[in-house]
Amino acid sequence: MGIFNTTLAKQSGYDLIDWNNLGFGNYFSDHIFISQYSNGRWDDGQIQPYEPMPIEPGNCTLHYGQTIFEGLKAFRAADGSVNVFRPEMNARRLNYSAKRVCIPEYNEFVFLDALQELIKIDNKFIPRERGQSLYIRPLVFGSGNFLGVHASDTYTLIIMTSPVASYYAAGLNPVKILVANEFVRAVRGGLGTAKTAANYAASLLAGTKAKEAGYSQVLWLDGVERKYIDEVGAMNIMFVIDGELVTPPLSQGSILAGITRDSVLQLAGSLGIKASERSISIDEVFATHAEGRLEEVFGTGTAAVISPVGVLHYNGETITINNNEIGPVAQKYYDTITGIQYGEISDGNDWNMKIKLNQPEILETK
Ligand code: PLP
Ligand code: COI
Repeated sequence: MGIFNTTLAKQSGYDLIDWNNLGFGNYFSDHIFISQYSNGRWDDGQIQPYEPMPIEPGNCTLHYGQTIFEGLKAFRAADGSVNVFRPEMNARRLNYSAKRVCIPEYNEFVFLDALQELIKIDNKFIPRERGQSLYIRPLVFGSGNFLGVHASDTYTLIIMTSPVASYYAAGLNPVKILVANEFVRAVRGGLGTAKTAANYAASLLAGTKAKEAGYSQVLWLDGVERKYIDEVGAMNIMFVIDGELVTPPLSQGSILAGITRDSVLQLAGSLGIKASERSISIDEVFATHAEGRLEEVFGTGTAAVISPVGVLHYNGETITINNNEIGPVAQKYYDTITGIQYGEISDGNDWNMKIKLNQPEILETK
């Protein structure tokens, strides 16, 4: 028996899944974990079927966006167990985001227990192919119904899961990215460091225009000088210049502290890569490219893992990086991080939370 009160779904959505065309975020597993906050405390939480929820027109989150979310993944390992990658980092970041928009914190141990229970119950939704995984989406929102602008006094936390393939249709192939020159996503002191809906709303118009022009995503510059690189809409960004890996520092105050970003920086030493966090201007990117010193550009994120950037466009100028091919540094990181996640190479940093299933399914080693 699990530790949470559980109501099982009467019907399963499993048979509707097209496993060869999962895409990203198109399917949901049968159950969610849900917990409610009222009278100053979170309840014990329970597992229940994934199904529509009634919502009042006066729900404060619909009006004022008091909501935060997370994104992490579970992988089916070759030994039949399940690896969840660095979930305690997501628990911590959820609470960081919570503080920024006045949402009460959630107990990080209960969060990890809830993840485990939910994954065990819906373990058949964890895909079997290399490159696929179970994306886990925790969400917290104000559930009060009122029209004044103030923090809610009731909240709902939901954890849902979704079997996914790559985030970009291109997979590990390089993506084309448009550098924003008309819009900004976040400014220092704003919401950029929190994983809250407003940042994504701020990105939609520029993202839509970029897609219409044939680009996958937008690379944001700092909101004040519009000069320094911040990040991409759903990824942090890394450059390899003269053999050195460079990424913007979190101290810029408008960037999400990516967990993949942190993993890349932590792994640098053992992979023999020199890495530094420093501000980098868009002019420097284009200048080093002109001088032949810009070797690679790639994004890092849970959904996208490592995503090479083949083309950057800014103010009428387009550059092609590394012949639009995946470079050796990006490839090394992709192989190492996914190798750890799928349990194929040693997890020296103890990053995986291992979940043992009652009836493990041993996969053929590839
Ligand atoms: N930046 C933004 C805006 C994101 O939405 C994400 C995705 O979560 C990232 C960066 C990468 O963060 P992580 O590596 O923790 O997924
Ligand atoms: C993630 O990588 O988890 C993201 O949040 C990306 C995006 C779906 C918002």
